[in-house]
Amino acid sequence: MTSQEFYELVQSRKSIRQFKSDAVPKEVLMRIFNDAAFHAPSGKNRQNWRFFIVQGKKRDEYLKYSQKSWLGIKDVLQKRLKPSLYDFTERFFFTLGNAPVLVFCYSNNSVEERHYTSIGSVYMAVQNINLACQVEGLGCCTMGAPLEIQKEVDQFLGVTELPEYKAGELELLCGIVIGYPDHTPPKPPRQTENRLTWLE
Ligand SMILES: Cc1cc2nc3c(=O)[nH]c(=O)nc-3n(C[C@H](O)[C@H](O)[C@H](O)COP(=O)(O)O)c2cc1C
Repeated sequence: MTSQEFYELVQSRKSIRQFKSDAVPKEVLMRIFNDAAFHAPSGKNRQNWRFFIVQGKKRDEYLKYSQKSWLGIKDVLQKRLKPSLYDFTERFFFTLGNAPVLVFCYSNNSVEERHYTSIGSVYMAVQNINLACQVEGLGCCTMGAPLEIQKEVDQFLGVTELPEYKAGELELLCGIVIGYPDHTPPKPPRQTENRLTWLE
């Protein structure tokens, strides 16, 4: 891969919120996790990410949770989004854009590691997943929305039964919806002002 191809890959990634019904083959998902997510850097190389992959009936069951998470977000978005985008986003929360795969990303926190470092390590893997989806011809959207109903998601996934959860170590950070794209949204603009400070 040339450096130009790398920058094109990074810049061509966009959040996708509408998907075809085609299933994502398991070997593709395995590649995304084994060959991309798990190669992310992490604090003290703890590799403290934990992923829960939800498909099929269990995925359908999650829709009512997604609809509930919308209630915690909709008022803020109503002020920020123009009406057509607000309506699209509401539909997305009700259907998850028909995405066949949902991934819930957890951090395994440790008293030996700073909280922010643990969180950041998981997000490193999340970005690798985003980029791997792009090269696989898949689309995805990282979602903070499940945090609106964090406890319920923990229960829905059965995470509450795990010893690490009972020890207070497992923390939900985000969801990712994955599938084959069925729309080509415009790329939201980027800002460069006041993002960099140079010191010499
Ligand atoms: C941590 C995080 C949380 C996000 N949460 C949501 C969400 O709950 N719902 C949603 O539709 N998009 C969500 N997004 C996607 C952002 O809206 C999107 O990345 C941003 O608008 C830039 O667009 P782009 O990803 O197409 O470049 C989230 C992204 C990140 C990184």
